[in-house]
Amino acid sequence: MKHIILPVLIVAMTLTSCSASKIFCNQQNEWTTITNGNLWLTKNGDTVQAHAPGFLKIKETWYMIGEDRSREWRPDVNLYSSKDLQNWTFEKKIIENGVTSPELGTRRMIERAKLLYNKKTKRYVVWCHWESSNYGASEAACFSSDKIDGTYRLEWSGRPLGIKSRDCNVFVDTDGTAYFISTTEENQHLGLFRLSEDYLSVVEHTRLFPWQRREAPAIVKLGNKYFMFSSACTGWAPNQCKLSWSENLKEGWSPLENIGDNKAFRTQPAAILEIKGTKTTTFLYVGDRWKDPNLAQSKTIIFPVSFTETSCDFQYRNSFEINFKTGEWREEK
Ligand code: GAL
Repeated sequence: MKHIILPVLIVAMTLTSCSASKIFCNQQNEWTTITNGNLWLTKNGDTVQAHAPGFLKIKETWYMIGEDRSREWRPDVNLYSSKDLQNWTFEKKIIENGVTSPELGTRRMIERAKLLYNKKTKRYVVWCHWESSNYGASEAACFSSDKIDGTYRLEWSGRPLGIKSRDCNVFVDTDGTAYFISTTEENQHLGLFRLSEDYLSVVEHTRLFPWQRREAPAIVKLGNKYFMFSSACTGWAPNQCKLSWSENLKEGWSPLENIGDNKAFRTQPAAILEIKGTKTTTFLYVGDRWKDPNLAQSKTIIFPVSFTETSCDFQYRNSFEINFKTGEWREEK
């Protein structure tokens, strides 16, 4: 009898201690390993085509849109979803080159599509670089839909406030004000364009970093400080990533500071993601490793970055682990 009771007791105690510290047990299993350098595949084994991605988190799901470069020089825009930035489901082609808005041309370079959600209008809004084949048009375009995976209709296209505009991104401030940020006037400056309340048009322009030829901007806010990552303009070839910070989006940006190695670890900035957990917040840098070796096989690279008062620790990691529940990250075990 004694021989039976003892093992039963041990099993029962183990189970109880695990359920008593259920959170601990779960957290042990909630580490996701992110490994860089490979093509991302969907559950169906297809290559994820969402280059220069833009992200939107809804509840526990990350939505990602980006350039579909399978037809390298005629990009469309695809939408994917994931819970862990690793297992991606293809949702929909939301902009099809020459089909979604044939009036804008059938062979456009549709680049750097970024996704916003407007709480007031309850619409999903896409802003992107809307270009001609020789990059002479220097235009942007805006689309919107009432569902994330709905039909995106063209809202506007052209040069924002008449200003030539190329590489772009979006940023939503804590008060809900949204901005379109783009490289302006033949790649000379960065333009900070405040969007209208419905996010569908540009209403105000502020020139930042005059004559400094920055592109691929990505802004993140920590407390009352904005940090902006950007690259130089060297086409698909990687170059030095630089960081600047300010307490005001429109002025007072610090001099550009080199971060990381001189090629941004062979990437160009696309986004900074905030992984807010129960214990801490981790920031993830997302960059494009273009033409690796061709455009369609460009890689999406992710690694954690951390900020000091005025700078950022920007170190590539081939592999790391992230806990989406607690917000922590750690070196791969
Ligand atoms: C890069 C830019 C890309 C794409 C490319 C074309 O500088 O970041 O988005 O426009 O040039 O050469």
